[in-house]
Amino acid sequence: MKFANDFLFGAATASYQVEGAWDQDGKGPTNWDEFSKIPGKTFQGTNGDVAVDHYNRYKEDVKLMAEMGLESYRFSISWARILPNGRGEINQKGIDFYNNLIDECLKYGIVPFVTLYHWDLPLALEKEGAWLNKNTVDAYVEYAKICFNAFGDRVKNFITFNETVVFASLGYLSGAHPPGIQNNPKKYFQVTHNVFYAHAKTIIEYKKLNQYGEIGLSHVFAPAFAVDDSEENNFAAMHANQFNMNWFYDPILKGKYPEYVVQQLEKTGLLPDWTADELLLIEQAAPLNDFMGLNYYQPMRVEKMEGAVEHVITLDNSTGRPGNPSFDQVYKTVKMDDKKYTKWDWEISPEGFVAGLEMLKDNYGQIKLYITENGLGDEDPIIEGEVCDIARINFINDHLKAVKEAISRGVHIKGYYAWSAIDLLSWLNGYKKQYGFIYVDHQKGLERKKKASFHWFKNIIATRGENLEG
Ligand code: BG6
Repeated sequence: MKFANDFLFGAATASYQVEGAWDQDGKGPTNWDEFSKIPGKTFQGTNGDVAVDHYNRYKEDVKLMAEMGLESYRFSISWARILPNGRGEINQKGIDFYNNLIDECLKYGIVPFVTLYHWDLPLALEKEGAWLNKNTVDAYVEYAKICFNAFGDRVKNFITFNETVVFASLGYLSGAHPPGIQNNPKKYFQVTHNVFYAHAKTIIEYKKLNQYGEIGLSHVFAPAFAVDDSEENNFAAMHANQFNMNWFYDPILKGKYPEYVVQQLEKTGLLPDWTADELLLIEQAAPLNDFMGLNYYQPMRVEKMEGAVEHVITLDNSTGRPGNPSFDQVYKTVKMDDKKYTKWDWEISPEGFVAGLEMLKDNYGQIKLYITENGLGDEDPIIEGEVCDIARINFINDHLKAVKEAISRGVHIKGYYAWSAIDLLSWLNGYKKQYGFIYVDHQKGLERKKKASFHWFKNIIATRGENLEG
């Protein structure tokens, strides 16, 4: 089976992770520009000041993407490039940069798929309380409107937010992302609600503009499965899915928060501070949501929590590793002997992907989906000067096959974006962990080089996935 002609083969990046040019051409500072410079916060003190200098090399990068046959490029806009203080005066040079990037994509027939918020918040807003402050919601809606007006004639796919669960939980539970607060579930839930409210307001504004494009948001997709068939572990998996999936997907797709979670939060005093008007708006916006983006790396294997578990964060392996307890100590994620893992202990499970997608279809029906991230973080081997990322080829091959399988089972998937188009800065893991089809040589002035996966993906796209192995 080939993928349909209107299925998009793409790859993704995020502004902070690729652009660099952190203070060039009037860009304002962000939460990450500050946080990454606090000693001990990132692996080897890496930061996005230069990253892979995509800001100055976007033409070369887009040309390589075109050579690969990429049909779509998902990138994010840095809010502080457009509005250096988060609101107020517009920085025209920021608008110019994204206009040029969009036009460069279109020159090669590459569909620009734009994320409005991939975690880099203008520092001025971080100082006002970031997403805990409802004024940030208003500032975001204004920023989004500026983007729609400036780019919406050529950009027909907008993603409002990337992975709310990550910036909320790492920001307020583990403390690994800005603002670095630990163990504060009250704030965590408040942030999630404020973001869903911002999403709802934004899509209502977008639809008023009649730009005839589509808008949605991207969530982490990490379906939870019990480690065995026992009742208590099945309960743990149900609980994990309610808190990590339903809490995030229901307000967007159904316009309502899940009863199960609401009841628990009421009991524990963790319910966000919300108004009837906000809840009504979330309900009204749900039918206007055009698609859901799923970022799939791995499922969760969970079991009932027993005894205390230490939360493990080390700087060379600071995200996504099993062994973490849920904030409410009901379940914990575990590593299983019969599963395969990456060098960073992320499970490799195309089967979990298919099973999770079916679970999603059962819960939400045939909603339109894009896989907006999927990929392998690895230390790629270099053999005689060539980047031989065969493990990445196998990973993407198997996950694209999973997408094919899910489509054949009636899941409505319209595109697949590999993470990432080019090697980039991992928020906490530096440059050691690579994801791209294009290698960046940090020893040779950020020279670009095609990896084995570049040639492989080019062929897969050209043949519309007919030749996937196995
Ligand atoms: C996703 C993010 O959560 O995971 C990306 O949207 C990130 O921005 C990717 O880079 C991989 O995470 P990590 O920690 O391996 O860099």
